[in-house]
Amino acid sequence: MTPPARECPRFPLALNENPYGPLPSVRRALEGALVSANRYPEFWPRRLPRLIANHLGCSSEQIVVGAGATGVIMHILQALLTGPDAEVVMADPTFDGYPLLTVTVGGHPVMVPLTADGSQDLEAMLAAIDARTQIVVLCNPHNPTGTRLRHRDLAGFLNRIDARITVILDEAYIEFMPPHRRTDTDLILAAHPNVIVVRTFSKAFGLAGLRVGYALTNPQTAARIARWQIPFGINALAEIAVHASYAAQGELNHRIRTITRERDRLTAALRRLGYTPPDSAANYVFVPLTDPVQAGRVSEAFAAAGIRAKQYPAGIRITVGDPTANDAVIASLTDAQSGLPVSSCGNALARTTI
Ligand SMILES: Cc1ncc(COP(=O)(O)O)c(C=O)c1O
Repeated sequence: MTPPARECPRFPLALNENPYGPLPSVRRALEGALVSANRYPEFWPRRLPRLIANHLGCSSEQIVVGAGATGVIMHILQALLTGPDAEVVMADPTFDGYPLLTVTVGGHPVMVPLTADGSQDLEAMLAAIDARTQIVVLCNPHNPTGTRLRHRDLAGFLNRIDARITVILDEAYIEFMPPHRRTDTDLILAAHPNVIVVRTFSKAFGLAGLRVGYALTNPQTAARIARWQIPFGINALAEIAVHASYAAQGELNHRIRTITRERDRLTAALRRLGYTPPDSAANYVFVPLTDPVQAGRVSEAFAAAGIRAKQYPAGIRITVGDPTANDAVIASLTDAQSGLPVSSCGNALARTTI
């Protein structure tokens, strides 16, 4: 029997997925583990948080795992947002999960526009905080622009926030950033117990389909979040995949180098064409497009080439794919820039995917 049909563009570049599947040794471990798929995972996940904590060098009481970072974010909002007026301050745009899940749990997203260079506007976010604010969300690197937060700026921001407000520091793409460019999470967490770091195995590790992510915070907050976990809620393959992924640091580094090299090639090519993507610290590139005619031409060119990217009012976010996909993006954006007609087969820019 054939599996259910999945709508599949030739170049699926809308979800910031890793184009290369799980790491080879992780794939082998997963194949070997499939024979035990008749067995339940742990009732409450204990081994997986321990595994992650050992890798990070923290206590397992500080880790809460979930069904991807999305599942963890949902549990954070369920646990910490209280009352009918609760507000969550976040950048506009940001990862769509944040406004969506905030509304799902009955909160109100307060959207703060990015600066002109695509960075989260820390001053404006501070100014947006009021008595109703319960959570502030920062992403590093930011989605969709790929801009990064500097340690000094983040620390300054946190010093000015009332400790009653929780700050979610979303590091879904942190592995794509060289270590010397990352903010010092240990220092941040030690100085600010109100911070929750969120990470995922969906991006650099290439495990989006397995749904595994985690929060890292102080043990008391972690325990509050964990109360929302679902029994047997983490699939049994997640633990095997994480274990094998941590053992495959060399393969992971190779992947990251391949993707970031392609990202830099794509960025340079787009700049040569006259587009103005900001420097990205992640596995995607944001192309500002404010002229509706030009945006329409890009949409047409992408549709003709079978490229699915993600559209925003101010531009498009293109996931870095394999070299063939990136060449197709460059060719399409060359066409769109040239003014020559492109054949159209529908709108390739996904508005609804997150
Ligand atoms: C910034 C950010 N956070 C969290 C997520 C959620 O990732 P997942 O639920 O696959 O772990 C994404 C997914 O695109 C993201 O871009």
